[in-house]
Amino acid sequence: MSREIYVLPDTEGLARRAAEIFAQTAAEAVKARGVFSVALCGGNTPRALYALLAEASFRRRIPWRKSHFFWGDERRVPPEHPDSNYGLAQKTLLGSVPVPPSNVHRIWAELPDADEAAARYERVLREHFKLPAGRPPRFDLVLLGLGADGHTASLFPGSPALDDKCRLVRAVWVEKLKAHRITLALPVINNASNVLFMVNGKDKAAAARQVLEGADHAKPLPAGLVKPAHGRLYWLLDSQAASLLG
Ligand code: 6PG
Repeated sequence: MSREIYVLPDTEGLARRAAEIFAQTAAEAVKARGVFSVALCGGNTPRALYALLAEASFRRRIPWRKSHFFWGDERRVPPEHPDSNYGLAQKTLLGSVPVPPSNVHRIWAELPDADEAAARYERVLREHFKLPAGRPPRFDLVLLGLGADGHTASLFPGSPALDDKCRLVRAVWVEKLKAHRITLALPVINNASNVLFMVNGKDKAAAARQVLEGADHAKPLPAGLVKPAHGRLYWLLDSQAASLLG
């Protein structure tokens, strides 16, 4: 694993660096295998990236028709709900670029049974990546955010999903949210060729320091468990999120 940490002055600078990495990994993947498979993240931070990718300067650099879009996690809401991670990406990016609808693989998190929603998404992954049993998919790029509590995707501190080495996708109960989420499991994230954290804001500074500079003996936060064994790990932080780093 290689790890690169970049501190950018602001949200715009962070989005631009993220867009460069996105475009570079997409070009590499299509050149090598003819397809680019990316897992998008939710929350507020990626909005600036998605908007930038839809702008002409990046739009023309992305091989949209050879790109397949997935999600690292999803809330238990329908796609049109304002909290939907799919809905965020659809509104700010996918609805504005020529990606074939069949290349967009959202998580049907609104299904009545959360475990069935997870199992369905796992089937989608196995079919797309043509996976033999027991093999995790290898995304070309996984986008992640960081919560102030150190969560990433929907892997929260103390979650039993953090120890799951078998399943690709988990339905998790998040006590602090009093809600279920659907999330990629760590083995999938850690099998990616590139993982890109985007972290904005002072409220993330303590978690970022613990993940990036915390003592090894300390119990790692979920984001600190993201270590793509065969890939590149990028951390992009704005100056506020990086304010406690040494
Ligand atoms: C989600 C994300 C979650 C997010 C962090 C940071 O579904 O909300 O997967 O892990 O990336 O909570 O969120 P912000 O970008 O809004 O700070």
